[in-house]
Amino acid sequence: MNYSKKMLRDDALKGKTIVVTGGGSGLGKSMTTYFLELGANVVITSRNIEKLETVKSELEVQTGGKVLPVQCDVRNYEEVEAMVNASVAAFGKVDVLLNNAAGNFISPTERLSANAFDTIIDIVLKGTKNCTLAFGKHWIEKEETNKVVLNIVTTYAWTGSAYVVPSATAKAGVLALTRSLAVEWAKYGMRFNAIAPGPFPTKGAWDRLLPGDLKEKFDLAKKVPLKRVGDHQELANLAAYLVSDFSAYLNGEVVTIDGGEWLKGAGQMNLLEEVPPEMWDMLEAMIRSKKNK
Ligand code: HXC
Ligand code: NAP
Repeated sequence: MNYSKKMLRDDALKGKTIVVTGGGSGLGKSMTTYFLELGANVVITSRNIEKLETVKSELEVQTGGKVLPVQCDVRNYEEVEAMVNASVAAFGKVDVLLNNAAGNFISPTERLSANAFDTIIDIVLKGTKNCTLAFGKHWIEKEETNKVVLNIVTTYAWTGSAYVVPSATAKAGVLALTRSLAVEWAKYGMRFNAIAPGPFPTKGAWDRLLPGDLKEKFDLAKKVPLKRVGDHQELANLAAYLVSDFSAYLNGEVVTIDGGEWLKGAGQMNLLEEVPPEMWDMLEAMIRSKKNK
């Protein structure tokens, strides 16, 4: 099966301008690459302008598309407003906001300082709020319609997760923001959806979630019923569909792309996967023998 294959037709995003926060690395860079291949202009933003300039040069050569790098810490509303203005000045309009930037690290919660907890909430929840509010106000004021906000959450936005509590708390807030504005701002011609990825290896996430030999100790592929991690193109295909006009009737949805990972952890009897097939005859006989006793 070729799950690295590109899904949409070549011009599917032609004429669209897409802002990708955290677009210079990891999943943000992979989604940016595919958006460019599909004909979009892309604004990539993060704190590190040197990294963004390098990625701009690389991706413009690779795809023939147009990239605008903008330094912007999503925690700072003034920087976010300046990023909106720079994007509009460069491309005339922005059609899609992809809230992808995030901060995270594993830690027992009692070891966290108040500032450590705040830092994650500020990047993930306040950052998503800042970008959404700035673009939302801009689109409403200009009376521009057919706009899309796509938020990257994760499956523990609804299950919660130990050891990444600030991130789980913030992602839950982002999911609530997504669903709330899907209703409130539909009247202004905006759609809001989210993607909840399972494990997709990136340096940023793996360095902070599986440092040192934790990578070998906890093979995340083993937690996935499909027995593999995600391929970046699979996520890029889904994101491209959700920001395109093909998904025009999808609003307020969160699409999970995790090979079944979170459900495997949730189902009470899913642990019976461990029972070898040859044991089932004996188990069935034992259960049947208890009938009417
Ligand atoms: C405890 C820590 C810590 C750690 C930092 N802090 N690292 N506390 N354990 N490992 C504390 C600091 O001491 C400080 O608190 C506060 O957190 C802020 O730290 P700074 O280094 O000043 O913050 P900053 O420079 O803003 O960096 C933010 C960061 C960093 C989140 C700490 O890791 C970062 O820049 N991350 C961006 C990329 C990222 O995280 N990618 C992963 C996304 S993966 P004090 O009290 O000392 O001032 C993801 C996957 C989800 O989201 C699901 C996967 C399945
Ligand atoms: P990543 O490579 O570390 O990406 C995080 C990005 O956010 C970086 O480009 C970083 O750029 C940017 N960023 C961090 N703090 C910022 C700030 N204050 N202002 C602006 N930009 C900031 O991690 P990733 O794995 O690709 O994660 C991308 C998204 O997917 C995140 O939302 C994450 O929660 C989600 N996710 C990932 C996985 C996975 O398995 N990888 C699973 C579920 C969900 P700078 O450092 O240059 O600022």
